[in-house]
Amino acid sequence: MDLFEHQAKELFAEYGIPVPRGVVAHTVEQARAAAEELTGRVVVKAQVKTGGRGKAGGVKVAADAADAAGKATEILGMDIKGHTVHKVLVEEASAIAEEYYFSFLLDRANRTFLAICSAAGGMDIEEVAATTPDKVAKVPVSAIEGVDRARAREIAAAGGLPEAALDGSAELIEKLWAVFVDEDASLVEVNPLILTADGRVVALDGKVTLDDNAGFRQPEHEAYADKAAEDPLEAKAKEKDLNYVKLDGSVGIIGNGAGLVMSTLDVVAYAGEEFGGQRPANFLDIGGGASAEVMANGLEIVLSDPSVKSVFVNVFGGITACDAVANGVVAAFQLLAERGESVTRPLVVRLDGNNALLGRKILADAALPGVELVDTMDDAAKRAAELAAAGV
Ligand SMILES: Nc1ncnc2c1ncn2[C@@H]1O[C@H](COP(=O)(O)OP(=O)(O)OP(=O)(O)O)[C@@H](O)[C@H]1O
Ligand SMILES: [Mg+2]
Repeated sequence: MDLFEHQAKELFAEYGIPVPRGVVAHTVEQARAAAEELTGRVVVKAQVKTGGRGKAGGVKVAADAADAAGKATEILGMDIKGHTVHKVLVEEASAIAEEYYFSFLLDRANRTFLAICSAAGGMDIEEVAATTPDKVAKVPVSAIEGVDRARAREIAAAGGLPEAALDGSAELIEKLWAVFVDEDASLVEVNPLILTADGRVVALDGKVTLDDNAGFRQPEHEAYADKAAEDPLEAKAKEKDLNYVKLDGSVGIIGNGAGLVMSTLDVVAYAGEEFGGQRPANFLDIGGGASAEVMANGLEIVLSDPSVKSVFVNVFGGITACDAVANGVVAAFQLLAERGESVTRPLVVRLDGNNALLGRKILADAALPGVELVDTMDDAAKRAAELAAAGV
């Protein structure tokens, strides 16, 4: 999960990292009030989870409260790389002497953590990295040794930060490492990290990515979730512990095992080309033990997506044999009928693997309305795409 800048800065502040004083505003009036409270020159900053806000006109300096209201009028509702601005951060303007770049991230290719530091920070860091890479220090960080004050100072020096900024930067970098480790982050980035006119080092921007897989031991991270941006179907699926991702096609997909479901998406997208570009409507992995209830919940989620015109159930029986899955489908139809959500869209079922013949027989005998059995994955994908095209 990516955090908004204001959330990242709240987190930084908890760790004693210097950040400018700021207030979040959802309306022009709130922005005006925030600027009055902060007094003096402020910066109005679009809160969207993408970079390059400054270049897109989403970061503006305002002389006073009235000006801040005007700047908020311009920024609220703005579209930045497909993200609509719903809130702004109104922040005291810092007197910037220099802008640096700093980040900690996971270097997957080298199986280590990496600190990236440069004295040439600010909005053009991407260009600096591309044209003068020697100005950007990339320092591997051992997970076991971590980053203490001395190591932090070395990293800052490697990035070419001037003597005047080294002590302040070292302290900030050490604390940023604590954020990175203690919060289970996969990225913490500060661009720009600034040296102020009066010699302080401050985090002027903040980008944090938290590792969702660590959610079980970071219960307080849930408060950062952006409920407004969450897909309602994905939220519902999460409540039911289903691995569901909404996509934009018309063929609902249910499978067992993430790998099988991934390849099902490919096969359906390929087969769908023949039928006017039908595409998968979702990813849904019902996992190994596909009980009737899980199948019913899965079908319910997939069918509550109005863009789904047909459903492809693709199961390879392993530990959970195909007869159990077939019974699950039959029971799911009953369960859904009891919930008043009878299945009215066509279902293509492909069963293979452990006890496939028995599973197919169970489904054939049940003669569920709209359910077709197809033997191979390719043919089933084709049929599901064809039915989706007919149902559009
Ligand atoms: N509180 C502030 N006081 C003074 N100047 C600021 C302040 N916040 C931002 N700026 C200026 O605006 C620039 C852009 O701001 P910021 O880095 O937060 O947004 P950004 O363009 O989205 O960054 P990125 O591209 O790294 O995501 C900064 O480099 C800095 O020069
Ligand atoms: Mg920035």
